[in-house]
Amino acid sequence: MEAQHPDIKNVLLTQEDIRGIVERLGKQISGDYKGKDLVLIAVLRGAVVFMGDLMRAIDVPLAIDFMAVSSYGDGAKSSGIVRIVKDLDMDIKDRDVLIVEDVLDSGLTLKYLMKNLSNRKPASLEVATFLWKDVEGRKTAIDPKYVGTHVPDEFVVGYGLDYAERYRNLPYLGVLKPEVYS
Ligand code: IMP
Ligand code: MG
Repeated sequence: MEAQHPDIKNVLLTQEDIRGIVERLGKQISGDYKGKDLVLIAVLRGAVVFMGDLMRAIDVPLAIDFMAVSSYGDGAKSSGIVRIVKDLDMDIKDRDVLIVEDVLDSGLTLKYLMKNLSNRKPASLEVATFLWKDVEGRKTAIDPKYVGTHVPDEFVVGYGLDYAERYRNLPYLGVLKPEVYS
C-alpha cells in the first residue's frame, strides 16, 4: 500500500476498497438506468474524484454536469449556510437526474439541492453518495438511494474530500489527525 500521509491518523478505505465500492455502485446504477435519460450531477469540489470513477463504472449512456454549493467554508464544522455558487449548464427537465456526492453528513446541503432541482421538473431525482456518516440518534435530512459505504462520525479526507482545500489528492480515504484542525 502507498505510504501514509503524516497528517492521517488511520486509513479507512484503501484504493482497493474504493475500487470495489465504485464497481458495485456502477453495476447497480447501470441496471436501474437502462433505457433512461441519465444525467449525473456532481457537487463540486469534493465529489469530482468519485464522479470520475463512477461514470466510468456505468455502462449506460449518460451526460454529466456540475454544481457548486457552499455550506462548510474552510473549517471542519458546518456553517449551516447553503448557497449555489455555480449552477447547472444543462436543462434537466424530463431527464433522469442522479446527484453524485462525496459525503452525506447532516444532509442539509443535499436537502436544499434536491428541493431546488425538483423545481426544474426532472423525470426522476436520486442521490448517490460515496460516504454516509453515521451519527448516533440523528436522522439525516434525506434518504440516498445509492450509498458507497458508511463511515464513523470523524473528519475524513482524501479521494476528493478536503480539509481547508488540502488532501483531496490522496488516493485513499483517511481520518485526519485532530491536531491538524484543532
Ligand atoms: P452536510 O450538509 O452536513 O451533509 O455536509 C455535507 C458536506 O460537508 C460535504 O459535501 C462535504 O463537503 C462536507 N463534509 C462533511 N463531512 C466531511 C468530512 O468528514 N470531510 C470533508 N468534508 C466533509
Ligand atoms: Mg461536498
